[in-house]
Amino acid sequence: MSRDAAIDPRLHFARRQRVLDALGDGVLILPTAPETMRNGDVLHEYRPGSDFHFLTGFPEPEALLVAWRTGAKRHRSVLFVRPRDEEREIWDGRRHGVEGARRRFGVDDAHPVGEMWQRLGSLLDGKERLFHRFGADAEFDRRLFGVFAALARKHRRRAPAAHPILQDPLPTIAELRLVKDAAELAAMHGAARATAAGHLAAMRCTRPGMREYDVQAVLEAEFRRAGSPRNGYPSIVASGENACVLHYHDNDRTMRAGDLLLIDAGAEVAGCTGDVTRTFPVSGRFTEPQAAVYRVVLRAQIAGIRACRAGARWDAAHRTCLRSLTRGLVELGVLRGRVDRLVARDAVKPWYMHGTSHWLGRDVHDVGAYLATGDRPQRLRAGMVLTVEPGLYFAADDRRVPRELRGIGVRIEDDVLVTKSGPEVLTAAAPKTIRDIEAACVR
Ligand code: GLY
Ligand code: MN
Ligand code: MN
Repeated sequence: MSRDAAIDPRLHFARRQRVLDALGDGVLILPTAPETMRNGDVLHEYRPGSDFHFLTGFPEPEALLVAWRTGAKRHRSVLFVRPRDEEREIWDGRRHGVEGARRRFGVDDAHPVGEMWQRLGSLLDGKERLFHRFGADAEFDRRLFGVFAALARKHRRRAPAAHPILQDPLPTIAELRLVKDAAELAAMHGAARATAAGHLAAMRCTRPGMREYDVQAVLEAEFRRAGSPRNGYPSIVASGENACVLHYHDNDRTMRAGDLLLIDAGAEVAGCTGDVTRTFPVSGRFTEPQAAVYRVVLRAQIAGIRACRAGARWDAAHRTCLRSLTRGLVELGVLRGRVDRLVARDAVKPWYMHGTSHWLGRDVHDVGAYLATGDRPQRLRAGMVLTVEPGLYFAADDRRVPRELRGIGVRIEDDVLVTKSGPEVLTAAAPKTIRDIEAACVR
């Protein structure tokens, strides 16, 4: 319970109000994430559900929020939580309990989670609309339909509907999460700072003969030191041609002089994560072919970041990077022909097969629509955060590319906040130019 200790009841009240105002009359039911078994008696490290944590700040598993609007700037909310339990707390750690939930989290009431099903009946009674995402937990949904059935029986003389009008609340919550509020921006800045510090520490420590996971340990230790209790996603520490595996996770190869090391890793702070990729030479200096590829990717990335302006299409960076990388592949002798034509036929695809950007926030691939009404691309607005992460990946056995490029994989990724006055690179403290990287890698 201590790891997500920053509790701000007023902030969470305000977020709930915004969500409920957007949803309208009805009852919102929102469970947190379930615990999941790893093996034997061991659970995976627990992390609360992102939407649930956004609206409550409550960090423990087996919890559920019920909230409904009662007027302008007014709503009521109830938390169901695990009760205090002296014996379980000796094993698993302290709990807020029902009293703690009521006192610290700014809700109107709290009850033991074991009473949830008997209490949901009266909470839903008379409410015409229910905001709940069906399909995530079949057993939960089955029991919820049991509650509807009991209410229908209770009111049978009025010939009631078998269930309230059902609406999925998650797109509405996602829309609000897409534009970060002040507290989330502070968290994003904190996550970016910790993430950049970790990448810098990784550059400084890496030597030939180390294993990828040795560097991972230094990287993640620096995340912790910088105030991050956990990673936003599993770190990718990929040397040599492992860099060509986009979500490489083995992280166990012994690195050699002359390799590049690609690290894609992000620290989570106050529920939000960074997402940064840096690619640097294991022995501290880029070879000429590595530097040539690196410059092409860096030029594309800088151009992509510049395209992240309020009012632009969300994929403006991708389109910019595709053109820039295409030009770069011609310069590298990989492609031949007119850049326009090559772009039109997506000629970079064999070496650049992923998108350039995604939303970033509580989830590394954060919630939020990429298409607006009419399937038009979403437009960037101040307060949105997205990544810009072009790359080039030349597999070791790729005979289509000049021999000296084979086995080189480069990705460069930063986290960009859209502001009224232009893009702000949150993760600029992680060295990125060849000169700054070689200075950080000094051996
Ligand atoms: N770290 C995963 C990604 O960059 O999308
Ligand atoms: Mn990313
Ligand atoms: Mn990444």
